[in-house]
Amino acid sequence: MDVIQLQKLVMMSQDLFITRLIHRPVVDSTNNLAIELANEGDADGLVVIADCQTAGKGRRGNDWFSPEGNLYMSVVLASGLNEEMPSSQNNLFQLITFMSAISVVDAIKDLLDKKISLKWPNDIHIEDKKVGGILIESRYEGEMLKFIVIGIGINLINTSLPPSIESKATYINQFLNRPISRDDIVFSILKSLDTWLKRFRQKRFDEIVQKWKAYNNTIGRLVRVTSDERIITGLAKDISNVGSLIIQDNKGQVFSITNGSLEFL
Ligand code: BTN
Repeated sequence: MDVIQLQKLVMMSQDLFITRLIHRPVVDSTNNLAIELANEGDADGLVVIADCQTAGKGRRGNDWFSPEGNLYMSVVLASGLNEEMPSSQNNLFQLITFMSAISVVDAIKDLLDKKISLKWPNDIHIEDKKVGGILIESRYEGEMLKFIVIGIGINLINTSLPPSIESKATYINQFLNRPISRDDIVFSILKSLDTWLKRFRQKRFDEIVQKWKAYNNTIGRLVRVTSDERIITGLAKDISNVGSLIIQDNKGQVFSITNGSLEFL
């Protein structure tokens, strides 16, 4: 399927949460364009996809290498965000990250010869290498959460990666059991995101965490976690019911981390 067919299909699927799908050959970042449009007004259900990004953004201020051929998309959610939600903003964002990552796995796992799995907090992995990531951004007006942008990046093709990520990253196409276009994958992700979003809106957070755990490659492994406050080395024991990582260090002390980056040891 190509972009025009994708746009037609999305508009015909009126039961989906999507209200508009914008495609650009080049953007600085699909998240930036989504934020710009969401700032202008009602953008609930807006999806932005691009063929490449000149300033793709990763988590924690990292760049996201974004040559042509991979998948770059951002989804805006603006409704129902201020109802009774998980205890903190970090937990809300973590659950939305989980929901988005699960949607990616649900959408593509049957197309692959290899197992695709999830690494806390936001990575999508094949054979312990990163194949995709999720970046959540948001805008508040006072106490009110106005919108959230879910940015999803997936490496589809073999590109010459920067040396810093070369050994840690991989791409989907080498594992595909049949050819599939980016836009087929986009549609498939949007359909599964729609399913999980309905559960999220029904506050079925437990199901989201359980599903994430079913797909995870992190629990039971020795890890080093860098969070804003500290660096902890230990065993990844579990994930809490709002998506925090439970880690036990070698003195037996247990920590619950809501936000950070993690490496396997
Ligand atoms: C990460 O793992 O650090 C998150 C990567 C998120 C990358 C995607 S690509 C589409 C969207 N636009 C961006 O600038 N970033 C996200």
